[in-house]
Parts: sequence; structure tokens; C-alpha cells
Amino acid sequence: MKGRILELLRRSDGYTSGQALSHSLGTSRVSIWKHIRALKDAGYVIEASPRGYRLISSPDLLLPYEFPGLEHRIRYFPEIGSTMDAARELARQGADDGMVVIAESQSRGRGRLGREWLSPRGGIYCTIVLRPRISPVYAPRINLMASIAVATTIRCLYNIDVGLKWPNDVLIRGEKVCGILAEMDAELDRVNFVNLGIGINANAAVPQFETRATSLKATVGRDISRKELLSELLREIDRRTPQLMGPELIEQWRALSETLGKEVSIRTPGGVITGQAIDIDDTGALIIRRPDGALTEAVAGDCIHGLRS
Ligand code: BTN
Repeated sequence: MKGRILELLRRSDGYTSGQALSHSLGTSRVSIWKHIRALKDAGYVIEASPRGYRLISSPDLLLPYEFPGLEHRIRYFPEIGSTMDAARELARQGADDGMVVIAESQSRGRGRLGREWLSPRGGIYCTIVLRPRISPVYAPRINLMASIAVATTIRCLYNIDVGLKWPNDVLIRGEKVCGILAEMDAELDRVNFVNLGIGINANAAVPQFETRATSLKATVGRDISRKELLSELLREIDRRTPQLMGPELIEQWRALSETLGKEVSIRTPGGVITGQAIDIDDTGALIIRRPDGALTEAVAGDCIHGLRS
């Protein structure tokens, strides 16, 4: 209801009467008034006069009713430990495919390989619950798909050159602007759910630990609209999810990759692999040519560009 009230107020040039709102939305004027009060409490500035209501300004918050028209159920938290933990709990309780957990900030944000993900206000922190019908072997394709979706969205909205570092960092001029963390609950041949966590350095400049980092604000030179970015990103992910297993996914990743062709050093749980990154296979594993010419695959790990050790 709040989303629909906001939509009507945004569409009008001037005031919208309580009567018109209650008529359009099929509810009482008292109920409209209560929703307006709740919106004001959430930070919306809404002028009320005998002529009706007028929206003066909206808070810069990723509130669920800021995403009208999206198919996703949204759980919103002003502050949370980690959206990954909340999403895992909700997925275990049966949350639908596509449900999104969004937080304005995280006190225990998690990065890949057990690292911390600093999550102050101004960034975008979300986890999407996905229930793809694929073999667990292909689950890393979800990370590839998400990184392509983030890169495409940033490029379209801000006309910035964006690249990808294996497995799924999104880079602007070689600096990380977005990190992706996927956690899976699966049986040997069946995925129960994959929780796809996305952290974007939007308006907060966040130096993340593993690599040089940047933010969209620093790149674009102004605060960006987090609502616009997140709603476009969710739409982009929705467009790409049905083609998760298609051959074009790998092609698109190759086209955006800043890893392929480079000398890399990959820290894996089994040790460090160095050599030239030559391709990825259809499960997202990185194929590396070692200095002796032998080919090796890295399934997971930390990738450093341009190093020989
Ligand atoms: C990385 O190390 O590059 C992955 C970072 C993933 C961060 C996101 S922010 C939203 C979600 N919640 C978390 O605690 N982590 C992920």
C-alpha cells in the first residue's frame, strides 16, 4: 500500500487529496492517513494541507516500497549482522526463489574466503535467495552471471568501463567496486538454494582488504541513486537467470574478463598456482597454463593479476 501511495504522490504535480488516494486504492481515508504517518516516520517528507498530500522528498533508503514493479519479495533491515545469515535462515524456512534481503549497513559483513566485508551506510548490501534447477557442479555459474549483471548495469547507468576479475570481482580501472559471495545448500545432485550476496561500494568509499577498491561515487564524481542501481540490477539478474546454463554466459564473461591472458597467481586451498590464465570452462573454473606448459584448473581461490612467484 505504501508503495502505491508513493507512486500516486510522485505522479501528481501538486497535491493529491486523501479522498482521491482512498478512492484509487480502495481503502479508507483513515488507513491512507496511517500509511502517510508511517511514511513520514520512515523519513519521507510529505506536506499535508487542506488540498491534500504532497511528496516533498524521499529518504535515501532502500525501503521495499521503493521497488515497485519488481517481482521480488523484499526483507529490509536498516542494520543487520550479515544479509547472508538472514537469507540462510529464511531460505531454510522455505523462502521463495527470488526473495531479497537488503540492509543499509552490516556489522558483520562477510567476504569471500572468510574475510570481513566492511559495510557502512551508503553501500548496497543484499542477498538473493535462488533455487535453480541445476547440478551443484554448475553453481559457480551463478557467480559469473551475477558479476556480468553488475558490470552490465553499472556500464549502462553510468557509461563506465567495467571489467571482471576471476572468479567474480567487478572492477573499475582495476579497482574493486563490487564483491560477490555465493553460499549453497545442496545435495550431491540437487541444489536446495544458492544465496547470492552482492556488496557494492556505491556512495561509501570502502577500502576492502584484499585489493585496491573504489566506489561509484568516487568514479562518477557524485552520489549515485542506490535505488535506481539496485532495481536495475535486480531486473538484469531476472533477465539473465533463465539463461544460466546457456553457452552465451561464458562468452559474456570472457568478453568482460580482465583476467584472461594475464599472468596470474591463484591462492587455492591446495596451494598457489601461477601461470597464464587462458580460459574458463563451463563450470566457471579458471584454466591456467603453467610455466612448464601444463594446464591446470582452479575451481576456487584468490586471484592476483600480474604476478609470478
Ligand atoms: C568478496 O569478498 O568479494 C565478496 C563480498 C560480498 C559482500 C556481500 S554484502 C551483502 C552480502 N552480505 C554479506 O555479509 N556479504 C555479502
